[in-house]
Amino acid sequence: MTVITKPFSFARALTCSKCGESYPLHALNTFATCCEKPLVVSYNYSNAFHKKLLPGRQLNMWRYSEMLPVTKEKNIVSLGEGMTPIFTLQKMADRYGYADLVMKDESGNPTGSFKARGLSMAISKAKEFGVTRCIIPTAGNAGGAMAAYCAKAGIECTVVMPRHTPTIFKQECDLYGAELILIDGLINDCGKKVAALNADGSYFDVSTLKEPYRIEGKKTMGYEIAEQLNWQLPDVIIYPAGGGTGLIGIWKAFKEMQEMGWIEGPLPKMIAVQSTMCAPILHALKDNVNWKNNFTPQATLANGLAVPYPFGMDMMLQVINESAGTAIAISEEEIVDGVKEIARTEGLLISPEGGATWKALLHLTATNFIQPADKVLLLNTGTGYKYLDNI
Ligand SMILES: Cc1ncc(COP(=O)(O)O)c(C=O)c1O
Repeated sequence: MTVITKPFSFARALTCSKCGESYPLHALNTFATCCEKPLVVSYNYSNAFHKKLLPGRQLNMWRYSEMLPVTKEKNIVSLGEGMTPIFTLQKMADRYGYADLVMKDESGNPTGSFKARGLSMAISKAKEFGVTRCIIPTAGNAGGAMAAYCAKAGIECTVVMPRHTPTIFKQECDLYGAELILIDGLINDCGKKVAALNADGSYFDVSTLKEPYRIEGKKTMGYEIAEQLNWQLPDVIIYPAGGGTGLIGIWKAFKEMQEMGWIEGPLPKMIAVQSTMCAPILHALKDNVNWKNNFTPQATLANGLAVPYPFGMDMMLQVINESAGTAIAISEEEIVDGVKEIARTEGLLISPEGGATWKALLHLTATNFIQPADKVLLLNTGTGYKYLDNI
């Protein structure tokens, strides 16, 4: 008798996000060398994974394991990431006249941000492939998350971070046993240091979108939004974008769920929120050829938004254009104001990146891009407690 067991993952291939060339699924991969663009994981869509199977599964992001790239359950490195709550912001909605305003709050994730999702996935894949050393350039949260997951997996961890990042982001790396290297500059300067240290290829470079796995963790936010809202997606999602893995990942989840017949109807408009100190997406939306020449990036108190030259820019522009969304930049003063207003009104101490999404909503309502009757979801990507120095 042949016993047929359901595969743990339905991952089918890795493909270049630009030209579609295939790369081996069963080898640790970085980016698509054919076009120098990110690689993405594609899946076999199968009736064997139906949304009806979800109730009763574990309350974390691994409930969607069939649509994730880890092939063996024993390789999962988990600290309980995902299945974060969606709160109705009723008092804010009443005050400003919104019919349906919710916030997905990622602050309860391990290490206090949504970065836990991507790093849990990437470090699980690293474990699956027997990696012994990982390295990452970070604006703060990703470094802490990687340090924690590497500690759990028993993998050596090197984090390269801007020197101006608030102290707590450095302390957590140290406490999790990572090697921490501080750089004068922004995350792109940290990226150069990582490339130099990894010139001999002795590390797994976990830089944003320079490997295909972090995005697969981030995409679980999209699955959760659909499941938690009873498969009725919002009209608009407002997301604070830096490197863009969340924006791209959430959209990827929506496309996958459409293919599987889990959701119907129009997809949300995807709004990328940036800081006026560093807003490359706004520049690239105006001129996607020369955008790099036309702006001077600066540090922002919303550290995660200071990503001057995102490797996944083309993919972010595609999501924004395909979803009929837009990008908007918020000033430092408004970001702080947004954090304080949400704290005082709703009892949630959110990250500055999350605070920016609230101000973005107000601006986009004033210009009629968003209607008060729209169903709006704000994404708070992290806890405000790590930014008290900044705020
Ligand atoms: C709290 C927070 N929000 C948003 C971002 C930007 O995320 P992404 O790179 O996925 O666009 C970051 C990145 O560091 C972050 O830490």
